[in-house]
Amino acid sequence: MRIDIISVAPDLLESPFNHSIVKRAKEKGLAEIVIHDLRSYGLGNYKQIDDTQFGGGAGMVMMIEPIATCIRKLQAERNYDEIIYMTPDAATLNQATANTLSLKENILILTGHYKGVDHRVRALFITKEISIGDYVLTGGELAAAVVVDAIVRLIPGVIGDEQSALTDSFQDNLLSPPVYTRPANFEGNKVPAVLLSGNFPKIEDWRSDKAYERTEQIRPDLLK
Ligand code: ADE
Repeated sequence: MRIDIISVAPDLLESPFNHSIVKRAKEKGLAEIVIHDLRSYGLGNYKQIDDTQFGGGAGMVMMIEPIATCIRKLQAERNYDEIIYMTPDAATLNQATANTLSLKENILILTGHYKGVDHRVRALFITKEISIGDYVLTGGELAAAVVVDAIVRLIPGVIGDEQSALTDSFQDNLLSPPVYTRPANFEGNKVPAVLLSGNFPKIEDWRSDKAYERTEQIRPDLLK
């Protein structure tokens, strides 16, 4: 899978993509992530990328020309399955969306700043808009990093133990059951005995009961 990201703050994306699972996916050749600095498509000597909004109001708006030039250049090089805009005024990311996106070949992600992008960008180029939650970040970069992480770990071969991604919270709309490791007794706090029993059907039953119980307590909305 190839993921292109258009950003005015490419430095923000350095670290998240050079660690852990995303780094491993890149090294294995399973994911290629390319960052494009929108500033280099800016207008004039000052490489302008934003301007005040028509109709008045505080905050700058990202202009359509630099974004259009950048997107068109990339589109001339390959077909994108989705062109995604990261924005708080969109449907929230969930596991189903991550699953779907992990099956795509080429994804382009546009990250916003300031007041966001000229709305014509959304109308003309964007095929999907994603929010990562009902709060406003300074820019879409961290949100894009979240989306990329959620997608890349699902690409077959990225996580060694395939089972691990499949048993994550949300894969079946339930939160994960509690997990434990050694020691079996920490200062009198014991691991549930069933997990030490070696009775795997019983362990599975216990895990699904706990997953259901925790979901009911913490996220009853997932059960609806
Ligand atoms: N940009 C700013 N805030 C955001 C959010 N919550 N989700 C996605 N993109 C954003």
